[in-house]
Amino acid sequence: MVLKIAVLISGRGSNLQSLIDAQEAGSLSAKIVLVISNVPDVMGLERARNAGIPIKTINHKNFADRETFENALHTALTDDNIEYVCLAGFMRLLTDNFVKKWIDRLVNIHPSLLPSFKGLDTHERALNAGVKFTGCTVHFVRPEMDDGPVILQAAVPILPDDDASSLAARVLTQEHVIFPLAIKMIAEGRVLVENGRVKIKGAGMPGDPIINPSG
Ligand code: GRF
Repeated sequence: MVLKIAVLISGRGSNLQSLIDAQEAGSLSAKIVLVISNVPDVMGLERARNAGIPIKTINHKNFADRETFENALHTALTDDNIEYVCLAGFMRLLTDNFVKKWIDRLVNIHPSLLPSFKGLDTHERALNAGVKFTGCTVHFVRPEMDDGPVILQAAVPILPDDDASSLAARVLTQEHVIFPLAIKMIAEGRVLVENGRVKIKGAGMPGDPIINPSG
């Protein structure tokens, strides 16, 4: 049985596109049944429409509070029998109440090597900190922002001439690799959460460590 997933977005939707591309290539092992945006008329909705995926706009501004907004989200997801929810650039914090309903079935992509650089402006902050690597993380969501068991990470070197936008582009390329890969692993039933940590059945090991700078 194919895993039924929904993707929640707020904007550009390039990570959504990577999931669509993997689905179309037959390498996602999951079906994107629904795309929900909390912001009207964003590019991500256009991407879903072009792929023939049903879309919904649930604009948080039309709700009195977070609870009623999240109730509307939850109803849309359960109406479509969604099993897993992917946050792909979804720019609303979700409350404990919502997160608990979807515990270990709610996955986020974040543009840093968590737990470093939670929150916004991750690339500027990595540059300012002078670290030599940054990257991206796919993780299960917990009530604290950008917290939760890590599923996959990709490390990306920071180069001497980088600015925030060159670094963001290098990291984004890897986001588009690890998000579909994480969803595929979940859909294949290979991802287990045990004592707050993720175990992946049959996980491949990476090659040699990378050192930056290399000499
Ligand atoms: C990505 O960098 C993602 O990691 C972060 O928000 C950005 C969304 O980009 N959570 P896009 O909308 O997927 O292009």
